[in-house]
Amino acid sequence: MSIILEYIALFFIAIYSYLEGLIKLFIPVKRKSVSGEIVLITGSGHGIGRLTALEFAKLQSILVLWDINKDGIEETAEQCRKLGAKAFTYVVDCSKKNEIYAAAEKVKTTIGDVDILINNAGVVFGVEFLNLEDHQIEKTFEVNILSHFWITKSFLPAMMKKNRGHIATVASVCGHLGLTYLVDYCASKFGAVGFHESMTVELESLGKDGIKTSCLCPVFINTGFVKNPSTRIWPVLKPEYVAKTFVDGILTNKKMILVPSSVKTYLILANFLPQRVISRINRIQDVQFSTMFRSATKMD
Ligand SMILES: NC(=O)c1ccc[n+]([C@@H]2O[C@H](COP(=O)([O-])OP(=O)(O)OC[C@H]3O[C@@H](n4cnc5c(N)ncnc54)[C@H](O)[C@@H]3O)[C@@H](O)[C@H]2O)c1
Repeated sequence: MSIILEYIALFFIAIYSYLEGLIKLFIPVKRKSVSGEIVLITGSGHGIGRLTALEFAKLQSILVLWDINKDGIEETAEQCRKLGAKAFTYVVDCSKKNEIYAAAEKVKTTIGDVDILINNAGVVFGVEFLNLEDHQIEKTFEVNILSHFWITKSFLPAMMKKNRGHIATVASVCGHLGLTYLVDYCASKFGAVGFHESMTVELESLGKDGIKTSCLCPVFINTGFVKNPSTRIWPVLKPEYVAKTFVDGILTNKKMILVPSSVKTYLILANFLPQRVISRINRIQDVQFSTMFRSATKMD
């Protein structure tokens, strides 16, 4: 097709997409059925991972729960079973590639091909850059992003064969903007957003339109992951609300799930605002949390 025709087609696709978006505001989007689907969630021994597992358990999915914390996943599995779902636990340290590959093989041979993969496990240190130990930086990258590569490499081939599946990435708003004392964390979450974006594009260009992708990017959540978080602009989110929004996003094949959704407006504006204005907004935001070195550190 000539470049002029390509641009004309692009114009009509854009109009169609906006109209479709407008109509979807009024007509509820159909949710896909996940009953009997195998859902693997890393970091499901606590917080968002556990609550996401419980949402899928309510929908009668088969849960495969990975975490470094044995008691945590056993507790999650128990709660899933009470909801009538099957749940299997695997103690896996997601910072270790060999443990991931070994556990993935066990899952494939004993349970089956994973239908929905949720890369959720995460760590944060919250330390001023020059006080970060090398091993902390390495851990942040191993868990928050490298594990996504090893785990996805393990389960994507079966999805590719069937042209069916879903890969969900738990990133953060910190994957879209930088915050003080979170240099390693933000960099790893930018990596997670990049992983999601490029995986989405690659699957599309390979014609694998049956494999869906979603990326969760919330602001602070009250899970204890970050100690005593507060900001003057964004709320500290309830974990149950985030998990429900996340699962709803997966069921409706939503690509980018920003929580709260108003973050989207800020991110669009931030692309156009002068750096001085952004610095001022950061001061107004007044992000605070306890770090490992100082408590209730003021982050302005
Ligand atoms: N809580 C927040 O404020 C917030 C905000 C945005 C994004 N997130 C992201 O959400 C995800 C879940 O965070 P959460 O708030 O539920 O935290 P959480 O601490 O409640 O849960 C994290 C889970 O990951 C597990 N985990 C940690 N290291 C692991 C490893 N090496 N191998 C396997 N499991 C490991 C932990 O044992 C824990 O069960 C993380 O990726 C985090 O970056 C959290």
